[in-house]
This record gives sequence, structure tokens and C-alpha cells, in this order.
Amino acid sequence: MSFTAPITLPGLTLDLAWYKRAVFYEVMVRSYVDSNGDGAGDLSGLTSKLDYLQWLGVDGLWLPPFFASPLRDGGYDVSDYQTILPEFGTLDEFRDLVTKAHERNMRIVIDLPINHTSDAHEWFQQSRSDPEGPYGDYYVWSDTDEKYPDIRVIFVDSEDSNWTFDSERRQFFFHRFFSHQPDLNFDNPAVVAATFDIIRFWLDLGVDGIRLDAIPYLFESDGGTGEGEPATHEYVRRLREMVDRDYPGRILIAEANQWPNEVVEFFGTDEAPECHMAFDFPAMPRIFYALRSQSATELVRVLSEHTHKPSFASWGVFLRNHDELTLEMVSEEYRQAMYGWYAYDPRMRVNVGIRRRLAPLLDNSRAELELVHALLFSLQGSPFLYYGDEIGMGDNIWLPDRDASRTPMQWTPDRNAGFSTADPGKLFLPIVQSLVYNYSHTNVEAQLAQSRSLLHWVRNVIHVRKAHPAFGLGSLTVLRTSHESVLAFVRDYGGSGTPFGDQPERVLCVFSFAHNPVAVDIDLAGFEGAAPYDLFGGAPFPTVRDDGVLTLTLATQNFYWLHLAAQASTEL
Ligand code: BGC
Repeated sequence: MSFTAPITLPGLTLDLAWYKRAVFYEVMVRSYVDSNGDGAGDLSGLTSKLDYLQWLGVDGLWLPPFFASPLRDGGYDVSDYQTILPEFGTLDEFRDLVTKAHERNMRIVIDLPINHTSDAHEWFQQSRSDPEGPYGDYYVWSDTDEKYPDIRVIFVDSEDSNWTFDSERRQFFFHRFFSHQPDLNFDNPAVVAATFDIIRFWLDLGVDGIRLDAIPYLFESDGGTGEGEPATHEYVRRLREMVDRDYPGRILIAEANQWPNEVVEFFGTDEAPECHMAFDFPAMPRIFYALRSQSATELVRVLSEHTHKPSFASWGVFLRNHDELTLEMVSEEYRQAMYGWYAYDPRMRVNVGIRRRLAPLLDNSRAELELVHALLFSLQGSPFLYYGDEIGMGDNIWLPDRDASRTPMQWTPDRNAGFSTADPGKLFLPIVQSLVYNYSHTNVEAQLAQSRSLLHWVRNVIHVRKAHPAFGLGSLTVLRTSHESVLAFVRDYGGSGTPFGDQPERVLCVFSFAHNPVAVDIDLAGFEGAAPYDLFGGAPFPTVRDDGVLTLTLATQNFYWLHLAAQASTEL
């Protein structure tokens, strides 16, 4: 089966590669809109904002877990995978969200943390009280806490071991995250079957994709690191087989916070596919590094490594999400530099990362916000926005852990920022009232009213991206430039066999991280004589010289997206 060719069913064209052109938006149900005044967001509230999201240009929503949970890890501690937490709504309300999203041609991707459950899950309760019973072997139990010594601790701020003693079963249980999140035992076929059933349950309800939370950590082995073990890849391959066979067009997204050569393994191969998408953890911190170091070198290195992946595979690129800006994928030297630039107050740090939102990270610089969004929307892969970043929302570093950047969405300058009608004291988290990001001026309504607001700018850039298939479907080739602050690449789309027809398209993307204006020579050998024009305003730019060089000047922290049109006589 070709992954770019649409399948046509009676009355319906199913584009299997929809995710490659999609713009995704991560929205935490609890943080978005409270429709019943109880102080927490809910599914009906989210459904009421689908028109806004459609206007913005969003094609797919990623919903972090909204299942039954004690909410000790933002819902990633699930106590029942097939029940919706009552404060978020009901299954009927979820069905309504899916239906109304689909009516707008918008997809729903849900997040499934299957590596672990909450300790409040019935399976764990039975496992600890009845070791010989049906759930006795559902978790990873041991008489010692010395097994798997090479498996690192992830939540270093709160855990000093991956093992915790259970006083009831009188054994240790294994956990990669919080000690209230025991890891499921994937060596037990019943656990594998149970997780497949859960995934089928949600796919049967019509969801378009599953984010596989913490996917590298499913299996452990003696002497292994517990990250991307062969058995874990085998599990994902089997899952993919099931999805392709029974739910064609639905996608799997890997959350694998790993080095590039390890992340690509979660795509598998064309012959033995795994996930359709994987988040691009290595590129993300390097974008922030480039901004402050004024050097594109590290970004160039990591982008050049991204060339080998199967044809169906696509990166999920992002700037921020509901977690800390993780610095696990950079060297110690770079990490220390990033802490110095972006987390000068120790409160801004958590685990191996920085718990701040996009606008505060960039000190609310409009030039930097535009630059990083332009990069996000032109890198190879599909962009994932984090709710609120489209209006430059602030954070609250006085709140614990990652709650700093999970505060309620700011819709209006009214009570509770239009998020909820509850007594302000009842909100699950307070609204941001800081000097710079106060909801009285940082809100959707105010930005809708200003034609030059960040919100309108982001919407515009999304729509320009969507009008050019090269961004979603094209290859990416990094070009040599004469200035270390300047990143340049060509997105090249050959154009055949897709809903866009047969029109080839090449877009030159140029970004300057310099803190002053620069002039730069870009090596466009092979494009001699090409006549670039600006994708936004259509203005013509100087042609590429006969020696294959294009000389451009860029204002401080500026960028260009230029269509590389052929001259009449040049066949590009
Ligand atoms: C999620 C985190 C969560 C962790 C443990 C992660 O990968 O993104 O928010 O705390 O899994 O469930």
C-alpha cells in the first residue's frame, strides 16, 4: 500500500497521509474551557471552541489523558482507561466532540500512558493483595530493589530509585516515573492483550490517532537500559499491524525522548513499520540554543541527521508542550548554557529541564516568537502547537512541578479570563495575573480585535503553510551559508500521486539567529537563474547568480520563506 496515495471508498476519500500535512494543537481538557462552572475545564467546553480552532487552522487535536485518575500526574496516572474522569464529562460528550471535530475535518488524537497505571488502578490493588490471582503478574515485582541497575531515574527531582517497597505484598514494584505509577509488566501476555483492547476501545469510538506515551519504556531486560528494548519494538510492530489492518488511516505517535538514531527506530521500516509519527525531541532544544548562541550549527547538525526514515514516517515538531522543556537530549555543556539563559531562577527548573512557557522563555520578544514559529511551521514534519502559545500566554513558576504552564486558557479580560464562571478561588489552577502576561490584556478576545496581534500572525503563517504542500510533504535539504547565525534549507516536493496533483514546488527557508542585521551568501548550486519570490507578499527577490549563490540581507532575528520559481528557460 502506498502511504501517499488516497484510498477512495464510496462517497469518501481517505488520505492515508493526512498527518503529514496536518497542523496539530495540544490542548489539556482541564485547562481549556469550563462549561459547567465547577472550576475545571471539560469536554463540552472544548467542543464549544472547535470553531475557534478551525479558524486558527488546526487540523488535529492532541488531548492528554482525560480518563479516571487521581490526577497526581496531570492524568498520566490512569485508574481506569475506559472511563472518563467525571469532572471532564461523559463518553457521550466525548463522542459528541469526535463527531463535531470530524464535521470540521479536524482529527482527534488521544494520549495513552500504557507503560504504567496509577497505584489506584484496580489491577494494581488486586496485584498487591493477591499475588497468585489473575492480576498478580500485571506489574513488575521483585524481592530486591537492585534489579535493572542500568535503568536511569527520569523524575530525578522526586524519585531516587525506580523501585518502591509495597508494604502489603512485601515486595518492591518497579516504576519509571512517580512511585504512585507502577509499571505494567509487558512480559505478561495478558497485559499485552489488555492494552490492545484499550486501544481498540478508543479507536472504535472514532479517534484518529494514539499518542503512545513513554513508549520506549515498556519492556525491561537484565543488563539493558529499559529504553527501546527489542521486545518493545516488537510490541509496537504488532500494534501497527493491528491498526493498519483494522483501522487504516488512524495513526500512532511515539513519545520517545531519545537521541535521533534511537527515535527513528520507533518508525520501524517500510517492510516492518512501527509508528507513523515521532516527536522530534532532539531538534526542539536546539532551536532555543540557536536563539541565544546566535549559532545555527547544532541545529544544522541535527537536521542533517534526519534524512533516513521510512516513506510513511513524519516528525512531530514542537516548541513547547505540557511537560518541561527537556534538556535530556543535549550535552552537559549546552545544558548548563541553556539553564543560564532560560532558567536563571532555580524555580524555573524541574528534573532535567525548564518548566516555562514559550513567551516567557523568549522574554515576550515578538521577533523571537515569529522566528521560532516560522521555523516550527517549515521544518520537516507536522507542527504541534501548545494551547495558549498562539496568544503568547505566560506561566506561573510559583505553582508546583509542570503546573507552571498548565494554567487556564485566557479567552477574555472578564472574570477568570472567560475560562470559567466559578468563584475564582475554586479554579483548579489560578489564572496568570503577572505584570507582563496578565489575562486582562493577554487573551483571545483582545488579540482577535488587533489585526497585528500574535494570534493573527500565527493564524496567517499557518494558512500560508497549508497552501504549500512542500511544507508537509517535501524533502528538506540543509544548504551551506556564509554566516554561522543563518540556517537555510530547501523544502522540495516532487508532487505526484497526492490530492495536490502533480505540481512540483520548492521553497527556500532562511532564518537568522543573529542579534544584529546580517548579509549572507547561500549556496544554491543547481538552482542557478532561479527567481525567488516571497510566499507572504509575493515580492520578487534577486535571482540566484550563475555561480549558484544567492546573497540576502536579513534584519535582526528575521526569516524568509521564498518560492524558488524557475526562469522561463530553466527547468528546475
Ligand atoms: C508525559 C508526562 C508524564 C509522564 C509519566 C510523560 O511522557 O508526557 O507528562 O508525567 O509521561 O506518565
